[in-house]
Amino acid sequence: MDVRTALKQGIAQLREAHVPSYTLAAELLLLHVLGRDRAWLYAHPEAELAPDDAQRFAALLARRAAGVPTQHLTGKQEFWGLEFEVTPDVLIPRPETEHLIEVALDRLAVREIRASRPQKTQGAGLLIADVGTGSGCLAVTLAKELPGATIFATDFSPAALAVARRNAARHGVAARIHFLQCNLLEGVAAAGRARQAVPLQPQDAGHESRFLDLIICNPPYIGRREAPTLPREVREHEPELALYGGEEGYELYADLISQAAARLKPGGLLVLELGHDSLPAVRPLFDFPAWTSVAVTNDLAGIPRVLAAERSP
Ligand SMILES: C[S@@+](CC[C@H](N)C(=O)[O-])C[C@H]1O[C@@H](n2cnc3c(N)ncnc32)[C@H](O)[C@@H]1O
Repeated sequence: MDVRTALKQGIAQLREAHVPSYTLAAELLLLHVLGRDRAWLYAHPEAELAPDDAQRFAALLARRAAGVPTQHLTGKQEFWGLEFEVTPDVLIPRPETEHLIEVALDRLAVREIRASRPQKTQGAGLLIADVGTGSGCLAVTLAKELPGATIFATDFSPAALAVARRNAARHGVAARIHFLQCNLLEGVAAAGRARQAVPLQPQDAGHESRFLDLIICNPPYIGRREAPTLPREVREHEPELALYGGEEGYELYADLISQAAARLKPGGLLVLELGHDSLPAVRPLFDFPAWTSVAVTNDLAGIPRVLAAERSP
């Protein structure tokens, strides 16, 4: 059978199984089997599919039709133009999470402009925490974008941290990311002794326990009561610890925001991802003198997705 025919049959099989984005899924699985890119596939539609490859493709299609996410079958997902290893131990990075990176880099650029420095920062000396790092997509992306920064990446799940460590190594940034197994930011204070390498600025004197410049976090924010409405790919295959924030979903934010307030420098930034209905519960947590410049950014679907705020002095 040629690759065009195999692809057509794969698409039909996944469509019949009501797989979301069935054309893309069949294409990604075939490319994975062939070890080729899309340009090759469309340039060589008549190429013969070897019997072994045909068998592997059929096996992958059957698992995808049974609800296994495409990324668990190919073992990878792109985020911010970088390829990340994913396993069932981590959340599959979502496109809307890229807005966290956009907002964080924009806010850092504004700080540079305010300090009369060039807007494009290398992040020299910045100390950053990524809370609930999962695959490490946020920590690794920030490490690539800010080559002068040091990052603490936390997760409760040792299995997730193992994947994140491999992703940091794959992208050549492992030396600048400290991985910590802890609840939210609890382990960061001790690890912050690494900050001794970074001289304290005069304006930070008296705030030694508040040493972070940026905290970024995509917390678990789905309510357990919503579980029955989730696609089976998510409900049955992604880690519960990465999905559910509690019965309602927004339960982790209060703790996270108070721990962030205790660790951010004066003028430090907190950038949080929000669930589709989290804003009414989360916004009031910032109505308190610890925070200024609170702003919400919508995602491409118009859902309030990112909340950013600045720690007051
Ligand atoms: C929604 S996932 C986000 C993963 C990744 N940052 C991303 O954006 O794709 C949330 C992550 O937080 C971790 N997590 C859940 N509760 C936690 C807690 N109390 N402390 C630290 N990490 C936690 C989960 O294991 C999971 O990896």
